[in-house]
Amino acid sequence: MKSNLTANELRNMYLDFFRQKGHKVISGASLIPENDPTVLFTTAGMHPLVPYLLGEKHPEGKRITNVQKCVRTGDIESVGDATHCTFFEMLGNWSFGDYFKEEAIKYSWEFLSSDKYLGIPKERLFFTVFEGDEDAPKDMQSYNVWRELEVEDSHIYFLPKEDNWWGPAGLTGPCGPDTEMFYDTLKLNCSDYCRPGCSCGKYVEIWNNVFMEYNKLPDGTFEPLKQYNVDTGMGLERILAISNNVGSIYETELYKNIIAKIEKISGQKYNEINKKEFRVVAEHCRAITFILGDERGISPSNADQGYVLRRLIRRTVRYLKKLGVMRSAVSDIASIVIEDYANTYPELEKNKEFIIGEISKEEQAFNKTINQGIKEFNKIVNKIMESKKISSEDAFRLYDTFGFPIEFTMEMGEEQGIEVDYVGFEKKYKEHQELSRTGSEQKFKGGLADNSVGTMKLHTATHLLQGALRKVLRADVSQRGSNITTERLRFDFSFERKLTSDELKKVECIVNDAILQGIEVKCEEMTVTEAKEAGAIGLFDSKYGDKVKVYSIKDYSKEICGGPHASNTKELGVFEIMKEESSSTGVRRIKARLR
Ligand code: ALA
Repeated sequence: MKSNLTANELRNMYLDFFRQKGHKVISGASLIPENDPTVLFTTAGMHPLVPYLLGEKHPEGKRITNVQKCVRTGDIESVGDATHCTFFEMLGNWSFGDYFKEEAIKYSWEFLSSDKYLGIPKERLFFTVFEGDEDAPKDMQSYNVWRELEVEDSHIYFLPKEDNWWGPAGLTGPCGPDTEMFYDTLKLNCSDYCRPGCSCGKYVEIWNNVFMEYNKLPDGTFEPLKQYNVDTGMGLERILAISNNVGSIYETELYKNIIAKIEKISGQKYNEINKKEFRVVAEHCRAITFILGDERGISPSNADQGYVLRRLIRRTVRYLKKLGVMRSAVSDIASIVIEDYANTYPELEKNKEFIIGEISKEEQAFNKTINQGIKEFNKIVNKIMESKKISSEDAFRLYDTFGFPIEFTMEMGEEQGIEVDYVGFEKKYKEHQELSRTGSEQKFKGGLADNSVGTMKLHTATHLLQGALRKVLRADVSQRGSNITTERLRFDFSFERKLTSDELKKVECIVNDAILQGIEVKCEEMTVTEAKEAGAIGLFDSKYGDKVKVYSIKDYSKEICGGPHASNTKELGVFEIMKEESSSTGVRRIKARLR
C-alpha cells in the first residue's frame, strides 16, 4: 500500500486511472443542488448527473469521472468514529448506457488491488452483492465477475435491499442493485453476525458500484430505465486513511492541521478520552467551511440548508465547550480549513471573508444564550427526574429563547437517558412558522429526477424569469437558488429591496412576451471559457476545461445548465408571479407558476 499517499495524489491517481479507461474528467458541482427540491445538499456524485442517467446526452460522452464534494447529515450521530463524515469528497466514475457490471467491477478491482494503484492486499478486501427480491433478481452477474477475479467465495456476501440497493437520491429517480467493497480492519468481530455491512467498524465500506437500471416512480414501483448505467462512489477520506495505514480519517493530512489548531485553542492534547469532541469539532468545521464557501453560498437560518448549517455551527460550539473552550473559536478553525484546501477548492479562498463573517455572527449570537440555555436545560432535567421526558413546551422554549435546535436538545437528553417530545415540538414549531423546515433531507416530490413535462416547462420559465429580472432591475442580478416542484417555481436572486408592483408586472410581461413569440430553446455544447465569452450566465467552476451545455432563448436568456428544457417557449402557457418576498439579507424570492 502507498503509505505516503497524499490526498491530492489520490485524487489524481483516481482521475488518471479512469481517464486511461476512456473517461472524461469533469468538474464537481456545487454542494447546493440546482432546481432539485428533493434534497438539500449534493449527497453523492451521481446527484448532479441524474438527467444523464435518465437518458439525456452528456456533452462529454458516456464515460465520466470526477471528484464531488458531498454533504450527508444522515450520518451526523456517527461523526466521531473512525470514518463517518457530514462533509466528504467522493471519487466517482459513471457509465451512461455504456459499460455495465463486468467492466465496472474489473476497474474497481484493478484500482483497489493492483500495486500500480492502491495495492490493498486482496485478503483484506470483502464484497457484498444484492440477494434479490420481488423488484429485481439476485445479482449473479456481479457475483460471477468477482469470482472470475479469483475472489474467494468466503469474501462475498449476498445481502438484501437495505444493504445492496442504492438510490434514488431523492424520492424518485434512477436506482438499482449495487455491489459494495469493504476493507477489513482486522479488528475482532463484534458478534457471530458481524460481516461486511455491520456497523461496528471492523469492515469499512470503501467503494460502491451501483448498477442503475431502474427508475423509481412516485407510486413506489420500479420501471426499467432506457439504458444500463453505472454509478460509483468512493470516499476519499476513508481510502486515504486505509492507504496511509492509520486508524482513522483524523490521522490523515486532511485533518492534521485542523486537529493541531483545536489542540492549541483548547490547550489539550488530542487523546483517547477527548477524541470524540475533537473529531466532531474538526469534522463539523470542515463541513461548515465548505457549505459557506460554496459558490451558491448559504447563510445560517431557520430553514432548509441554512438550518443544517446553523445546527452544525451550534453543535460545534457545544462540543468546543465540552473541551473547555469558552471563547468564539469556530472561525479560527475554519481559517485552517480554508488554508489547507485553498489549492483544490479555490472557492474557499475566494469566499473567505463571507465564511469567516457568517461564522462569527452566528457564533457570537449563540454564545450569548448558550450558557443560559444549558442552565435552563439542567433545570428542566431536574424537574423531570421521574418522567425522564422533556415536554414539547420546554423543548420549544429551548429552541425559541435559547437557540437550541431540537436535534441538539434531543442529543443532550440522550446523553442523560432522557426523551424529548419531538412530535409535540414539531407541531408547536409549525404553528409558529409559516413555512416549516422538514427534519429530513428529502423534501418534496419532483426535482431533477422528475422529468415530467410540467417541471421541464417551469425550468425553462425560470431561465426567462432570470433574464427578465436582469432587464427590469439590473444586469448583475444573480441567481441564489432555484427550486421547482410540479406546481410552481421558486427563484432566489440577489437584490436589496422589495420589488414594486410595476416592476413585477414588467417582469411578467417580458416572460409572457417570450412565450407568445414561440421561440425555440436552443442547446449548444462548449467549454466554460467559450460559454463565458458567449455571454452565458451560470456557475463558472470548471477545472478541467470540460464541456457544458448552454441553453439560449433568443436574447431573453443564455445560461449554462444541465437541462432538460421545453423545446419551444410556446409550450409554456401563461406565466404568473404568485409572490415576491425576502429570502435572507440581500436576497429576494419569487414564486411563480404556469397556467
Ligand atoms: N451513489 C452511490 C453512493 O453514494 C455510488 O454510494
